Amino acid sequence: MPAPPLDTPLFFFGLTTGVALTAASVFLINNFTASRAQRALAAAVADAVLAQQQLEHQGGELASPSSKLSPYLAAVVPTAGAGAPTPNGDLPALRRQSWSVPSFVAADGTLPKLEMEFTVSSKKLQKMVRHMVNEMRKGLEADGHMLKMIPSYVVTRPQGDEVGQYLALDLGGSNFRVCMIELRGQGQTAIRQAKHVVSDELKTGSGEQLFDFFATCIGDFLKSLGMDTREKRSLGFTFSFPVSQNAINHGELMQWNKGFSASGVLHKDVVVLLNKALTKANINIHVTALVNDTVGTLVSHAYRDPQTYVGVILGTGTNAAYVERMSAIPKWTGDKNIAEMVINTEWGAYDEESILPITSYDNALDRASSNPRLQIFEKMISGMYLGEIVRYVLIDLISTGELFRGNSTPKIQTPYAFDTAYMSRIERDHSLELSDTKAVLENLLDVHNTTVQDRRIVKHVCELIGIRAARLSAAGVAAIVTKMKRLDACTVAIDGSVFEHYPHFANRMRDALRELLGIMAENIVLEQARDGSGQGAALIAALHTK
Ligand code: BGC
Repeated sequence: MPAPPLDTPLFFFGLTTGVALTAASVFLINNFTASRAQRALAAAVADAVLAQQQLEHQGGELASPSSKLSPYLAAVVPTAGAGAPTPNGDLPALRRQSWSVPSFVAADGTLPKLEMEFTVSSKKLQKMVRHMVNEMRKGLEADGHMLKMIPSYVVTRPQGDEVGQYLALDLGGSNFRVCMIELRGQGQTAIRQAKHVVSDELKTGSGEQLFDFFATCIGDFLKSLGMDTREKRSLGFTFSFPVSQNAINHGELMQWNKGFSASGVLHKDVVVLLNKALTKANINIHVTALVNDTVGTLVSHAYRDPQTYVGVILGTGTNAAYVERMSAIPKWTGDKNIAEMVINTEWGAYDEESILPITSYDNALDRASSNPRLQIFEKMISGMYLGEIVRYVLIDLISTGELFRGNSTPKIQTPYAFDTAYMSRIERDHSLELSDTKAVLENLLDVHNTTVQDRRIVKHVCELIGIRAARLSAAGVAAIVTKMKRLDACTVAIDGSVFEHYPHFANRMRDALRELLGIMAENIVLEQARDGSGQGAALIAALHTK
């Protein structure tokens, strides 16, 4: 078949959205990606994005169009409009974020200072992307770097034709689920599951208690389905913490996060611990796969959409996994004949070198956390922490008398009492009097007689912190697709309560991606992937049972 004209894919991208867009891109990739020119374009743009960011960072400008890039750009992108390249072929000028100070903000108060501190400029985001790509490279070269870049041992992605029934255990941040997943082929699945909340006592008690709890939940679940616990079954274990893997079904816990500190688990093989608890409970289960939730999310989404190369969690914690070429993983000492492997970046650990725009509130939160100086990116982005940052800011505004006439409440003074779900409610409140915000502040945080001005200030604080989280998340995604040189077409599967429930989060991420990648951002499809981590573990178990 003759190669199609280069503008065909972008024409399609321009006409379609959502699922149709994904389907179109899959079709085009499958049929035309013989078009090596497309891949070359993506690679050239990725290089140019980094080059432009480098120059901008140094205060320079791209003197002449990239010789590699300009012929492609001239062929595929329009020359006018926002985000279009300049006539001489330079990358599009990046859109700058402009802030207008709300009228209720006193010019000399704390709020303008907060606006400055919590607003992450395009320039800062670009600098982050470049720095993150570099850190990813370092983590792929050797262990011991800021980004752990953990090889997951997942080397095949599903074809969509896998079938069978598989069990999965999914330990995320706040919940633990036991799932029975039926793979029906053609990307179809059916799932039955039991969800349990992991109490603070279990999170911080002994590891033995924690794993015994998992075994009990599995036994109860099998019984509820009328299944015999003595019958041999395969299981995929989603364990959402950094684990140094030495096989697809073995790995040692490197670090607890998200408020977990159960004793006797650190540096132990978590599959061995689970097996021990299962044997004790007389359950005949064989763990065929140990996977991070990001890896599970990527794989389960790829079952439906083969263009999925990135899996992200934006929930209680945050992290991302992506498909990397083996030749780009110098630290890999195993089988060299494998073409690609899913890498768990553990991006929550970014960044120790203070590229991140850390405020005094972030510092206070970090110092008081159960894992000080660790997971700084996670603490600025994820659901476990966003409400807590707001709480620190509110306490400051109360202390200066700018909020609630200087009156605090025991609830506001209680660590983690300002749930991130309150931020979602407040950001979703568009009523004139901000009545739902009033309900949150007065009924849940015991503040008496809030004024509309108080509520507006609280809402604005939530906006600043919510927008910052979305923009930082987008920088992470931009770094990964740039590292992969997949700016031509890539689906990013995203799971987690923040992405799913926090109002405007997805759109704020898309806006930031456009600032960072220009027109190429249209090729990066951010898709909600619900309950992907458990299903992914089942799929990986299926792939490895095959
Ligand atoms: C963990 C990751 C996990 C992420 C999302 C982080 O705290 O380190 O392994 O993927 O949370 O659950």
